[in-house]
Amino acid sequence: MRDAGLVSGTSDPQPDGHHFVIAANRLPVERTADGGYRSSPGGLVRALIGLLRERQGVWVGWSGTPTAADAAPDEHTRPFTIDGLDLVPVPLDQDQLTGYYETISNGALWPLYHDAIRPSLYDDEAWDVYRGVNRAFADRIAAAAAPGALVWVHDYHLQLVPAMLRAMRPDVRIGFFLHIPFPPQELFMRLPWRDEIIEGLLGADLIGFQRSVAAENFCILSSRLLGAEAEDHTVQAADGRRVHVGPFPISIDVAEIDELARRAETDAAAEDIRNRLGRPEVVLLGVDRLDYTKGIEERLLAFQSLLRADGPLDGVRRPSRVLIQVAVPSRETVGDYMTQRERVEQLVGAINGEFATLGHPAVHYLHQSLPLHELVALYRAADVMLVTPLRDGMNLVAKEFVASRCDERGVLVLS
Ligand code: F6P
Repeated sequence: MRDAGLVSGTSDPQPDGHHFVIAANRLPVERTADGGYRSSPGGLVRALIGLLRERQGVWVGWSGTPTAADAAPDEHTRPFTIDGLDLVPVPLDQDQLTGYYETISNGALWPLYHDAIRPSLYDDEAWDVYRGVNRAFADRIAAAAAPGALVWVHDYHLQLVPAMLRAMRPDVRIGFFLHIPFPPQELFMRLPWRDEIIEGLLGADLIGFQRSVAAENFCILSSRLLGAEAEDHTVQAADGRRVHVGPFPISIDVAEIDELARRAETDAAAEDIRNRLGRPEVVLLGVDRLDYTKGIEERLLAFQSLLRADGPLDGVRRPSRVLIQVAVPSRETVGDYMTQRERVEQLVGAINGEFATLGHPAVHYLHQSLPLHELVALYRAADVMLVTPLRDGMNLVAKEFVASRCDERGVLVLS
């Protein structure tokens, strides 16, 4: 996506407000080094962008770049339109990002909501920052929404927004969707700010989760913490409203993937990939954000065991089984992600040290974000797709792989 002078206007493109508003931590596009734009990382954007276009809505979110306190107004701070999408940035400075994004969202909530597979850190000062950023989002949404608009708030970064927005704009209808798991009470009770989160979410009219177990966890916790009456997928909020709660698993644009997969150039690209790999017997593939929840390290260890079971190469033969691991760069300023990257890269080196022959690695590791058409070519080139997270909300890679296999071949391995 190119800039092409599309950063237009200093005011909201629809001054009377939009009738459909999406709010998520990130805007759906981010700046590239060459001055263009590309899609922001993650399944959330891919799942929602079509709907935003269809409903001619506006998206409220962070631009992806910290804003200096004295920055001149630009696309990180003022509404703009790009490629037909109306966008309202919420400017965040470095201190806000450290408190709200790194410490609370990714240091406390993310690991706890993913079965506490890493310890969470609970920092009250950072929680104040999280609260302040949620308020900034609510302010921007309130300013962007037309009377009676439909507002859809997304993910664990913005759990206080529904109640804040309702207090400011009781006329709008509010939906909230959580893209990650919602934990059972044994884990959620560890959170110092547990009541505030449930109250924040109950500001919505409808709360959606990926799976029914998450919706059940939420209902149980609402009763336990706030004494709310919860039955038949509804929870009674403190002001007497009945809030609907349920599972609404997200998916992909199957037609888009199918069309890409059937193109002659995709066939040719898949063939070229297998040739460049040295035509191994089996191509295994993993595609994930580089996140410790995704089980990349465990997958590499499993592949190493498989190769060891095959016995040593004779020094001339090429590896008959190769693994391509695409690890999309993610949250590179967060400590656990830096450690995870080191461990994964060390393991890739160790496996290749043991099993590669000259010019033919056993693991092909790409620490890159690839465009969709290249991913589809990889899906078509693979024999085995490994989707083996330790914990996940809803893994869209599994769905993309299946949708890409218009040849009805390939094996999907799920944890
Ligand atoms: O799906 C969970 C999620 O946090 C989304 O909100 C986000 O789009 C994606 O993962 C990528 O994460 P981040 O915005 O922290 O890079």
